[in-house]
Amino acid sequence: MSAYVITGGRRLHGSLDVQGSKNSALPILAATVLVNGRCVVHNCPKLSDTECTIKILRSLGCSVRREGNTVTVDATTVSCSHIPEELMHEMRSSVVFLGAIVGRTGKATLCAPGGCEIGLRPIDLHLYAVRRLGVEVDECYGNITCRVKNKLEGNKITFSFPSVGATENAILLAATATGTTTIVNAAREPEISDLCAFLTSCGARISGAGESIITIEGVEQLHGCEHRVICDRIVASTYLIAGAVTGGDIELKNTEPVHLNAVLPLLEEAGCNVSVRCKSIRIKNPVGLKRIDKIITQPYPGFPTDSQALFTTLTSVAKGTSVIVENIFESRFKHVPELIRMGAKIRAEGRVAVVDGVPKLYGAEVFSPDLRGGAALVVAGLCAEGVTTVNNVGYIDRGYEDFSDNLSVLNADIRRV
Ligand code: UD1
Repeated sequence: MSAYVITGGRRLHGSLDVQGSKNSALPILAATVLVNGRCVVHNCPKLSDTECTIKILRSLGCSVRREGNTVTVDATTVSCSHIPEELMHEMRSSVVFLGAIVGRTGKATLCAPGGCEIGLRPIDLHLYAVRRLGVEVDECYGNITCRVKNKLEGNKITFSFPSVGATENAILLAATATGTTTIVNAAREPEISDLCAFLTSCGARISGAGESIITIEGVEQLHGCEHRVICDRIVASTYLIAGAVTGGDIELKNTEPVHLNAVLPLLEEAGCNVSVRCKSIRIKNPVGLKRIDKIITQPYPGFPTDSQALFTTLTSVAKGTSVIVENIFESRFKHVPELIRMGAKIRAEGRVAVVDGVPKLYGAEVFSPDLRGGAALVVAGLCAEGVTTVNNVGYIDRGYEDFSDNLSVLNADIRRV
């Protein structure tokens, strides 16, 4: 597997366009299965996860073409209701196809996604949602078979937790069900709003996207449309932190600053100058980083769990002691032992990490434990003294398009070997 080799200590500067959002592109591509026609999805990042999604679409019988960052899907020829096991394993979020496949074909078979790098990934909320709309679910030896009992019928779905994926599956299934579906305690992430915007362009009738209660009036059929995926707020936060830890000056273009409302104040608390213009964010860190009192991950609009590992790196080199509480996933501090190898002082137990900032990190050979943990190690390498080798970069490829090229443009010394 490839590795990134980084010689740290260079100040990052310059400007960059932020890629399209992975977590928007995946459910939107899955949603095309519901559409009897041709959908053109722009700003679709080239990532191993989006490529896996395209493989699933083809395995279902869709015709898919990628030209640059535009993916065109024609789902008129959907002929299959089964996601192959190897593709379910390649990308656990492929469970987001469930609602779209059942909505289109009346049935779906897939294997349970099981545990993964960041902890157990149960799908009980997804299955609860599809059952509420009239789907019979049979779970047997890790295989899941879903079949519409009589007809798909709108209903009230009340989530005990605002799961992103389960909310997406509920919306997808409700879009062409008969009658009205109300989702209570829905996830409010911008990626949910983007999925709803896409479906609305296809003729779906959805209100309340981005709020805790979403109402969907089912329509008989969806038609094709053209849609541009929103920019990736987690990738944006990654580059901002790379700027912060290297004492840099970076401008990110093509961003949606409002999506980072829980992140930018923490960068300011750490002592960075952050300035926002309508679609751009500039970060400067002229005087060194200070501790952040508390970083607590929460569902949107709270601080995102996907940025937690990156803030662990940032607080590792900030003066003073910072506390991080991970509330979303049970096992999301796997980057901590790797940062400790680089000289960080962190005590992590259960859901809490206490980070005592050190003046400097030192280059070391480390291993990406997962997607965001891997990105956090690359960022650590950028500010460390000496050479850092980050192994297992396949994880990073799942979410970052042209990562090393972009960092090089910003003056980093990084190469992929
Ligand atoms: C999505 C994002 C991921 C992000 C996460 C939380 C995608 C492709 N991935 O993942 O990057 O970290 O949101 O913002 O969009 N849970 C259950 N039962 C379920 C479903 C979830 O207990 O049926 C639990 C999970 O174990 C986890 C928590 O709910 O502890 C959050 O999961 P969820 O919001 O569903 O995240 P994903 O959709 O998997």
